Amino acid sequence: MALYSEKVMDHFKNPRNVGIIENADGIGEVGNPVCGDIMKIYLKIDNGIIKDVKFETFGCGSAIASSSMATEMIKGKTVEEALLLTNKAVTEALDGLPAHKIHCSVLAEEAIKSAVKDYYDKNNVAYDNSIFKGLDNATACHRH
Ligand code: FES
Repeated sequence: MALYSEKVMDHFKNPRNVGIIENADGIGEVGNPVCGDIMKIYLKIDNGIIKDVKFETFGCGSAIASSSMATEMIKGKTVEEALLLTNKAVTEALDGLPAHKIHCSVLAEEAIKSAVKDYYDKNNVAYDNSIFKGLDNATACHRH
């Protein structure tokens, strides 16, 4: 089996939703201190719906493919639905990632959560802190 699925290669070569959103309603940025990769997510939110989402990823191919897929998966969804997106769902949608690349998909999940948290904070939305528990741990890299 090839190391990377066709979907991973497709999203790596033709990433969707690359860029920035001016006046974004929420911006999230997370990084992995071990590999040094950084992911930034911009959300445009209207009435609780994610109308637009863009990303900038300074990282490996798997991180780019994960960001691309994750942005596609949350576009048009509610903010609450976006919070439920797991790195596992992103990995499955990509038809899998090699084990040592799973942490790259974690960056996508956490970047989205971080952007939603920013949106909540800016709009004084009350939330249970435990939703964002582990956001800082997300930067821990399990690569050896
Ligand atoms: Fe760092 Fe993929 S995100 S190696």
